[in-house]
Amino acid sequence: MSEPRQILVTSALPYANGSIHLGHMLEYIQTDMWVRFQKLRGNQCIYVCADDAHGSAIMLRAEKEGITPEQLIANVQAEHSSDFADFLVDFDNFHSTHSDENRELSGLIYTRLRDAGHIATRSVTQYFDPEKGMFLADRFIKGTCPKCAAEDQYGDNCEKCGATYAPTELKNPKSAISGATPVLRDSQHFFFKLPDFQAMLQQWTRSGTLQDAVANKLAEWLDSGLQEWDISRDAPYFGFEIPGEPGKYFYVWLDAPIGYMASFKNLCARRPELDFDAFWNEGSKAELYHFIGKDIVNFHALFWPAMLEGSGFRKPTAVNVHGYLTVNGAKMSKSRGTFIKARTYLDHLQPEYLRYYYAAKLGRGVDDLDLNLEDFVQKVNSDLVGKVVNIASRCAGFIHKGNDGVMVAGDAAPELTEAFLAAAPSIAEAYESRDFGRAMREIMALADRANAWIADKAPWSLAKQEGKQDEVQAICAQGINLFRQLVIFLKPVLPVLAADAEAFLNVAPLTWNDHLSRLENHTLNPFKALMSRIELSKVEAMVAASKEDLLAAEAKIPAGNGELSKDPLSAEIEFDTFAAVDLRVALIVKAEAVPGADKLLQLTLDIGDERRNVFSGIKSAYPDPSQLEGRLTMMVANLKPRKMRFGISEGMVMAAGPGGEEIYLLSPDSGAKPGQRIK
Ligand code: MSP
Ligand code: ZN
Repeated sequence: MSEPRQILVTSALPYANGSIHLGHMLEYIQTDMWVRFQKLRGNQCIYVCADDAHGSAIMLRAEKEGITPEQLIANVQAEHSSDFADFLVDFDNFHSTHSDENRELSGLIYTRLRDAGHIATRSVTQYFDPEKGMFLADRFIKGTCPKCAAEDQYGDNCEKCGATYAPTELKNPKSAISGATPVLRDSQHFFFKLPDFQAMLQQWTRSGTLQDAVANKLAEWLDSGLQEWDISRDAPYFGFEIPGEPGKYFYVWLDAPIGYMASFKNLCARRPELDFDAFWNEGSKAELYHFIGKDIVNFHALFWPAMLEGSGFRKPTAVNVHGYLTVNGAKMSKSRGTFIKARTYLDHLQPEYLRYYYAAKLGRGVDDLDLNLEDFVQKVNSDLVGKVVNIASRCAGFIHKGNDGVMVAGDAAPELTEAFLAAAPSIAEAYESRDFGRAMREIMALADRANAWIADKAPWSLAKQEGKQDEVQAICAQGINLFRQLVIFLKPVLPVLAADAEAFLNVAPLTWNDHLSRLENHTLNPFKALMSRIELSKVEAMVAASKEDLLAAEAKIPAGNGELSKDPLSAEIEFDTFAAVDLRVALIVKAEAVPGADKLLQLTLDIGDERRNVFSGIKSAYPDPSQLEGRLTMMVANLKPRKMRFGISEGMVMAAGPGGEEIYLLSPDSGAKPGQRIK
C-alpha cells in the first residue's frame, strides 16, 4: 500500500441567513461521501466547513428580527449544525466566518496582498439610501427598466426583457430597504488587482484542477480580460473592518473562502497532530479540495487562487463543481411543495434514503440532478431493501437456526468471491473520481449476482430436505460474506446501515481493506431489520408539509411572533400569484383578547357576505382591543384556514411595522365597504 495521503476537504459555507434545503444537501452529502471514502481507505482526510456569517443581508435580517447579527448567526449555526448532523454529514469542524481565526487570517492575507502591491484604491460613485444611511448594493435598488419600462426591476438587470444595466440607468429608482429615493454619493473603495494574476490563472485553470466544462467557461472570462475586484464596503456593514481603514469593511466574499482556512485553524487548536502550515503553506504536500455549486465558480477558481498566490499560500489541488438540484424535473417550488427544507425531510424520512439516491445519480459533471420523488421511492426500495438488505435477511435465519449463528468455513462460490474482489478497485476508482453513480451501479450489479446465486441455490428448499444441512450452511455463510463486502463498498454512502450491519455481523468497524478477507467460523448476532421500505405516503406528507412551511411563513401574524412586515428582499412573484390572493375590505365587528395567549387577539370580521374568525398577533399594539371594533381593515380572505391552539383562523389581517407596540393595521380610505375586493 502507498503512503496515506493528507487531504483537506471543504464544502461551500452556507449563508447564515436561511435554512438548509435539499439543494444544499446535494453538496454536503456528496462531499461527506467522498470524505468518508477517503477515511475508509485509511487516508488522513479532514473535512471542514463553517457558516458564512457576514454581509448586508444578514445585517438587515437581524435588524428586522430585532436581534443582533451575532444572535442571528448563533441561532442559525445551531440549526445548520443539527441539520447536517442528522443527515450524517460528519464535519471535522463546523465553524463561522465571524471568528477570531478568520479575522486574523483575513487581515494577514489582505496586508500581504497590499504590501505586494496587489491592492488599488479609487473613488466609486454609488447609490446611497439617505433614510437608512447606507450604500445600496444593486439588489437593494428597484425601479423601472430603462429598456422596456417594466416596473419594479432590480438595479442590475430586468427580469422582463433580460436587459443588463447600471443601477444609475434605472428610472425612478427606490431603495428596497426603506423605499426612499437613493442619491449618488462618492466613496473610496479598495480593489484586488486580479489582472496581476492573469498568466497564473490561465495556466492554473488548465492544469487538471477543474472539470473541462468549468475550465472552458472560465476561459471566456480569462480571454476577455480580468477586471479588478472591489473588496471593500462602507459602514454600516456586518463584517471585518479593513486593517488601518476605519469605516471600511471587507466585502463578504473576501473573507468567506478564508473561512475554510479559519475553520481548519480552529480545528488545529484541538487536534495537535494537525499542523496548519503543513496544509496551507506554499509547496504543501497535502491535497486541498473544494466542493462547490456551479453558481460560485468565479469566486473559487479565479479570485481565490489569486488571493492565495498573492499572499504566499498554496492553491487548491482541485475545485469540484456540481450542478443544481431540481425536484420532479423543475426548479424547487414553494407552491408545489418541492422546496424541501432539510428538517422537513428529516421529519418524515431516513437520511440514508436521500444519500443513496444522490449517490446513484451523481456523476463527475456539472449537470443538474433531478430528484424525481417517485423514482426515489422505487430506486431506494428496489436497490437497498430489495437487493442489499435482502441478502442478509435471506441467509441469517438459517445460520441461527441450523448452526447456532456460526458461519461455517469454506468458499461455496469461488467465481462470485473472485468477481467481488475484482470489482473493488474499479469501485474505489469511481469513488475517488466522484463518479458515485458508477460506483453504485457496479455495487448493485454485484448485489444482483449474489441474489441470483442464492435464488438458484434456494437454501430454503434445501433446508427442508434430509442431509442437506451442510450445503445450506455453506450457501448462507457465503451469502453473508458477500453481504459484508457490499456493506464495505456502500459504507461511505450509508454509515448507519454499515454500523447496524457491523453489529449484526459482530465485527469491529469495517475498513475498505476488510473486503479482502472473509468471515469463517464466526458467530453472528441476531438479525434485526436493517432498513425498511419507503412508503409513498411519507413522501406525500413531506411535500404537504413543505407547502405548510410556506403557509406558516406567510401566516406570521396569526403565529404572533411579532414579525409583521413582508420581507422587502424576498423573491419576486408572478402576477398570477398575486392575482390569486383574495384581498378584501373587512369590518372588525368584535375584537377580544384570547385567554392564555399573550400576543393574540381574536377578531370577528364582516366581509360582506360572511363573517370570519381570525387570530392575529397584534395585541401588543392594541392592549384595549375594543378600540378596534367598528373600524375597517384589510384581510386576505382566501388563506387556507389554519388550526391554532385556540381555534381555527380563517384568514389574515394586514398590518405594517416592526412589531411590539409599533404595529399598524392597514385601513382603506373612508367610503370603502366591507367585502369589497382590493385590486
Ligand atoms: N455563502 C456562499 C458560499 C461561500 S463559500 C466560501 C453561498 N452560500 S449558499 O448557502 O447560497 O450555497 C451554499 C452551497 O450550496 C453552494 O455551493 C451552492 O452552489 C449550493 N447550492 C445552493 N442551492 C443549491 C441547489 N438548489 N442545488 C445544488 N446546490 C445548491 O453560496
Ligand atoms: Zn426590461
